[in-house]
Amino acid sequence: MTDPHFRADATDPIEPDGPVVVAVDGPAGSGKSSVSKAAARRLGWAYLDSGAAYRALGWYVVQRRLDPTDSATVIDSLPDFDYRIGTDPDTYHVFVGDHDVTGAIRQPEVTAVVSAIARVPEVRSFLTGLFRSIVARTQKPGIVVEGRDITTVVCPDAHVRILLTADEAVRIARRSAELADHSAAHVGEALRRRDAADSRVVDFMNAADGVTTVDSTDLDFDQTVDAVIAVVQKETHV
Ligand code: CDP
Repeated sequence: MTDPHFRADATDPIEPDGPVVVAVDGPAGSGKSSVSKAAARRLGWAYLDSGAAYRALGWYVVQRRLDPTDSATVIDSLPDFDYRIGTDPDTYHVFVGDHDVTGAIRQPEVTAVVSAIARVPEVRSFLTGLFRSIVARTQKPGIVVEGRDITTVVCPDAHVRILLTADEAVRIARRSAELADHSAAHVGEALRRRDAADSRVVDFMNAADGVTTVDSTDLDFDQTVDAVIAVVQKETHV
């Protein structure tokens, strides 16, 4: 871990003079990564993909041939997990040590192990502390942070809290289009299995109190970005 300011027990980073924080949660294939990144770009704000950190740790575990289901081994690997992520939506890159893993963390071998890692409480508090320190140090006027538990655990006091959903069939179709060399049936099965495993840890299918739901089932990409920006504008007057 390279961040000397990292504090796993850091509290919610929302400061009166700090950046406007937009928290976006949602299930796999809801479009939250691409939509959040595009919304941040349009607003001229920073962007933080929290799932990329869980994926990067998954990549690291696969790379070191560790057993992802052995929590103690995964926890032991955390001090050596040297992870860096950009928050500029235009130059977004994810590194582990010297490796640029931006593409590799999306591979199905990594996706297959990430839920096992994400259910370990020590992993969650470690990464939650990291996310909060990144948010607190944002230099731009605002930051869009997306994941599964941003509206509820990482930044429950965010100025804007959104749950981005879409019907399961639509989410599977979108993910299949991204992974063109894999069969739709296989992608669908993997996505269903991951959502089921992830929802045992955090609830990202139902909006918590005060969270605005944006359903992208019948919206195309640009319309979904518009819908997210409309919520941000309504709630922050930017
Ligand atoms: O893009 P997609 O929705 O497929 O997944 P992601 O956002 O890249 O997240 C990958 C995995 O990380 C999820 O399946 C969860 O297991 C985990 N995750 C989490 O537990 N909490 C978060 N805030 C973000 C991701």
